[in-house]
Amino acid sequence: MFKRIVTVIEVLALLAAGVFVVMLFVANPDSTTGATAPSGNDASYSPEGGGLPDGAALYSARCAGCHGSDGGGGSGPRLAGRVVEEFPDAADEVAVVTKGRGGMPGFGSSLAEAEILAIVEYTRTELGR
Ligand code: HEC
Repeated sequence: MFKRIVTVIEVLALLAAGVFVVMLFVANPDSTTGATAPSGNDASYSPEGGGLPDGAALYSARCAGCHGSDGGGGSGPRLAGRVVEEFPDAADEVAVVTKGRGGMPGFGSSLAEAEILAIVEYTRTELGR
């Protein structure tokens, strides 16, 4: 009898541990995407595509209209190959994109900080090549 009670308790403990592990896996993606998800209605942002925002996709959705899909410029100045020289400190470029300047709109209220960082990173690397 005593042995059966011990077995039951063991099974319950195993079940509880299993539920706990499942909850860890289920809860985690929600909390991470919840932190980086934009508050606006940004259709290009897909939390399913992994944790980090896609700088290239965000650039073509939000910046290419003025700066060109290849960064060659348009109504906004050329960015490709220029921004690293113009902004040796990436934080200064992040500030322009966040706050805006002249004809350049600020994106601080429509994009999450992680998204702006991803776009700036993209303009300083892939776009410039
Ligand atoms: C509505 C058009 C428009 C959009 C959209 C736009 N920009 Fe601009 N951007 C401009 C204009 C115009 C300037 C020049 C601002 C000035 O006169 O100082 C500029 C300037 C910049 C600069 C500074 C360039 C330099 O050499 O000083 C950066 C960096 C930049 N934009 C990045 C971006 C990024 C990244 C995005 C997308 C998140 C974006 N822009 C979206 C119009 C735009």
